[in-house]
Amino acid sequence: MASNRKTCFFMLLSIFAVLSYRTTSLPSEDYSMSIKHETWMARHKRYYDNNEEREKRFNIFKDNVKYIESFNRVGGQTYELEVNAFADLTKEEFLTKYAGNYMPSLKGSPSSSFKYENVKEVSPSLDWRDKGAVTPVQNQAHCGACWAFSAVAAIEGIVQIKSGVQTSLSEQHIMDCDGAPNGCQGGRMEHAFEFVNKNGVLASDKDYPYQMAEGTCSWDHPSSLAVKINGYERVPSKNETALLMAVANQPVSVAIDPSLFQFYKSGVLKGKCGTKLTHAVAVVGYGTNEDGIKFWLLKNSWGGDWGENGYIRLERGIDDIQGMCGLAIDATYPTA
Ligand SMILES: *[C@@H]1O[C@H](CO)[C@@H](O)[C@H](O)[C@H]1NC(C)=O
Repeated sequence: MASNRKTCFFMLLSIFAVLSYRTTSLPSEDYSMSIKHETWMARHKRYYDNNEEREKRFNIFKDNVKYIESFNRVGGQTYELEVNAFADLTKEEFLTKYAGNYMPSLKGSPSSSFKYENVKEVSPSLDWRDKGAVTPVQNQAHCGACWAFSAVAAIEGIVQIKSGVQTSLSEQHIMDCDGAPNGCQGGRMEHAFEFVNKNGVLASDKDYPYQMAEGTCSWDHPSSLAVKINGYERVPSKNETALLMAVANQPVSVAIDPSLFQFYKSGVLKGKCGTKLTHAVAVVGYGTNEDGIKFWLLKNSWGGDWGENGYIRLERGIDDIQGMCGLAIDATYPTA
């Protein structure tokens, strides 16, 4: 008995010795980073198939955390970054998986009439959420249906403004029934507006929930909602004044360059962005922050944990006529 206990004691001792040797032999920075990674994995329910993948993801995670921390350390920024659900992806992977599926028009921007052309006055700030015209943020996940989410947000907006009734409407209905091949591979808001206009009915999210994949069209649900829109119009391109006149009257769909969005946490995104329009969102407001920076308020479709409860603010009224991250290039809204 006594010798058993002794053996046991020595075994434990040697295990501790090995463990403490291991931990001290790792650079302590890597050690705390690997704890950070594990905590993050648990929080985001991330699992890796094998050690090789885990090692690869750890290294990407490490680089991202260092970048985010050093960005936030610099003073005087107008926005902050955070280690969010996209922290184990390279920028290229992130853009391909979550933000690469808006299809820019091949024809260029067709000219169309602009019903807000003669709007004289707009209020200095506006948040369509306060008016009940914006439904809760959803998560498109790994399916590239940003275009459907962007279009539906604009449709929900005009429907609520016209009828006073707020209903979360179905992206899936559009994806399954619009006749285009695979909604997860991308699309355009115009197609969604045209489909809803022709169809005359758009199911609610409750009746036709989002599946993160394209399915078979089954639209004649008994409780489908009659959603009346009579087409769409295009905001004159590269003109933030025109965009303001439109957004002052209803939420507007826009294509956007999402290359600075990956780790956005809060604040007004400012600085050098691009104009590669690979993602789509909806502009649901505008205003000026406490530091006097004018911003656009955008509803995204990456869930409520991303950014400011699923929203992002971008600098408004910049010198570049394309608008911050190109948001003034390709803006459309449904008419009703
Ligand atoms: C921007 O759009 C507004 C409203 O349509 C228009 O009055 C103005 O002339 C446009 N500005 C430019 C530079 O095209």
